[in-house]
Amino acid sequence: MSEMMDVLNNFKELPAMPNVIMRALTVIKNPESGAKELGNIISYDQALSTKVLTLVNSSYYGFAQQISSIPRAISLIGMLKAKNIIMTVAMRPMLTSMGGKILWEHAIKTAVGCELIAKRIKTVDPDDAFMAGFLHDIGKIILRSYDQKLYDRAESLGKEKGADIIEVERSFFKVDHCIIGSQLAQRWQLPILINNVIKYHHRPSLSSFVLPCLLVNVVDYLVRDNFDENDKGNSFNAIISSKFGDPKMLRDNIFSKANILLAELSR
Ligand SMILES: [Fe+2]
Ligand SMILES: [Fe+2]
Repeated sequence: MSEMMDVLNNFKELPAMPNVIMRALTVIKNPESGAKELGNIISYDQALSTKVLTLVNSSYYGFAQQISSIPRAISLIGMLKAKNIIMTVAMRPMLTSMGGKILWEHAIKTAVGCELIAKRIKTVDPDDAFMAGFLHDIGKIILRSYDQKLYDRAESLGKEKGADIIEVERSFFKVDHCIIGSQLAQRWQLPILINNVIKYHHRPSLSSFVLPCLLVNVVDYLVRDNFDENDKGNSFNAIISSKFGDPKMLRDNIFSKANILLAELSR
């Protein structure tokens, strides 16, 4: 354990949360402030305002009429979705530079998948589900930026040899992406549910938020590159088939929605 703490101390330079997200989260937490304050935060940043409007007008949200003002956008989608949009827009530079394209796309696909399923099962809030899915692997950016070559080796061991990524990371870095991600979530003062999902999405039964962790755990599997819908003996496929129908159709649906967001966000 002390060895793990030593390694955590070596990661002292955890990145700061993008300022605009911090301000948005503060507004959301404060019962005294509302849509107007959140609108001010967005409007203050020209690039962010443009991006928010582009996203709200995209087919991902599917509004019939053109939305041209930030207050109108917030009133249509709600504060929590607006916060999630700010999060995805503001985190993109950090995720793509420190995590790479694959991790960025994985974050969006998992977010979209979690939101979509949460809307159906109605036991996890869809906006929480989106944020949890989006940030679940945030610890990977820390490990990867600490030693990219070593991290890529760890990942390919996990993918090619089917090794447990948590075990591989611990043997390479003395810490895994869930622990270091949870430290980052704590530093960023992210909601406890999000911190818990980051910490336990590979071990949902240990979490005090079992359902959101299970949701991310299942979607994480469903959106991965080497997903095999014909692997009937796989317990994930069995869970998905019994609860949500054909896994392949669900995956295709998630990917087509995620691709809309990815295209809009990369413009
Ligand atoms: Fe993970
Ligand atoms: Fe993941």
